[in-house]
Amino acid sequence: MNDWHDQLRVSRAPFIPSVVWVAATPPGEGFVSLSRAEDETCWRELVDSDEPIITQVDDGATAPGRTGWRPSSSCSQPSLVAAMLDTLDVREEQRALEIGTGTGWNAALLSARVGSYGHVVSVEVDPAVADDARRALTKTGYPVLVVTGDGTKGYPADAPYDRTICTASVREIPRAWIDQTRPGGLIVTPWGTDYGDDALTCLTVHEDGSASGRCGANLAFMRVRHQRRDYRDPTADQLDTAHTSQTTRTGPELFEITDFTRAAFTIGLRVPSCYLTVEDLDDNHRRIELHDLGSRSWARISLVRRHHPWTVHQIGPRHLWDEVDTAYTWWRQAGKPTPDRYGLTVTPDGAHEVWIDAPDHEHRWPLNL
Ligand SMILES: C[S@@+](CC[C@H](N)C(=O)[O-])C[C@H]1O[C@@H](n2cnc3c(N)ncnc32)[C@H](O)[C@@H]1O
Repeated sequence: MNDWHDQLRVSRAPFIPSVVWVAATPPGEGFVSLSRAEDETCWRELVDSDEPIITQVDDGATAPGRTGWRPSSSCSQPSLVAAMLDTLDVREEQRALEIGTGTGWNAALLSARVGSYGHVVSVEVDPAVADDARRALTKTGYPVLVVTGDGTKGYPADAPYDRTICTASVREIPRAWIDQTRPGGLIVTPWGTDYGDDALTCLTVHEDGSASGRCGANLAFMRVRHQRRDYRDPTADQLDTAHTSQTTRTGPELFEITDFTRAAFTIGLRVPSCYLTVEDLDDNHRRIELHDLGSRSWARISLVRRHHPWTVHQIGPRHLWDEVDTAYTWWRQAGKPTPDRYGLTVTPDGAHEVWIDAPDHEHRWPLNL
């Protein structure tokens, strides 16, 4: 039996809705509904597995039986939930704030940990998801206050909290979380830029209203609603006007440029507002695209097996590929820092500064959020 079974003492089955969503086949064709009534065995296997379970798509706009495109609520992977709770180090009698109630399962786990003298508040932006979680928590007997609203504002009425945990990811640490967590308290959240995955980040809140801490494991969480990343597909006319060049970067270099554990986390910290997408068209063709909706800039590197060097198209005032290429060179010159060497300080005025190894390291810089 895996470690997470021992750590997660609340069964997740009572929190999983009878209709969930699974990837369509072939992959890349969206998500289809799986109903417990129609396939109890499959539903049960999923519930008992160490896999995330998608419980809502397209913010609830897509009905079961149709194809959904964007997962918008889920029950996270159990081993990951265990790792996040470990990092949060939540103890008996503490007050905890969760952002992203989802199914309510993590809120129940928090409630079990803080016990009857503790207090758990969980904020969920989607009213239907919040209602389902409230019902499941009541039924299973966990006294969690589920609040419907924007969790980036926290829940000031019950502050201060000893622990704040977000189960969606953020690009910017909301001021409210720091203000509502007591000095010495912890904030645990998936945090990252628009470029690539997020890092499990744990910040300690300080007396002066700042917060600082380290980044860690790679997480692929859905973003809180109003910080979502987005992409653009240029029209054929725009493609005709694209600045075209070639890159001599090799396959292994492009792998590093897009891989979280290699250069991607660093590139995101050095190239602001740059959303990365990677698409395999077939075994011989891969497209790496970079998107900045704000400046209407876009770039595509078209990889064709055995046809190196590769073509680069760039549109808009920013040459996103050139920026990424420069950041990759920096990463190599800086000794290829891994994500777990990074830390983040949020100053009392909300500025985000990243650093390598320690806040006074020569490699530290403010983020342009
Ligand atoms: C990965 S799920 C949470 C998993 C959940 N903790 C569980 O145990 O099932 C992320 C949730 O965050 C919610 N969410 C997204 N943006 C939010 C926001 N601004 N405030 C509160 N909840 C938000 C989504 O609706 C979704 O239900």
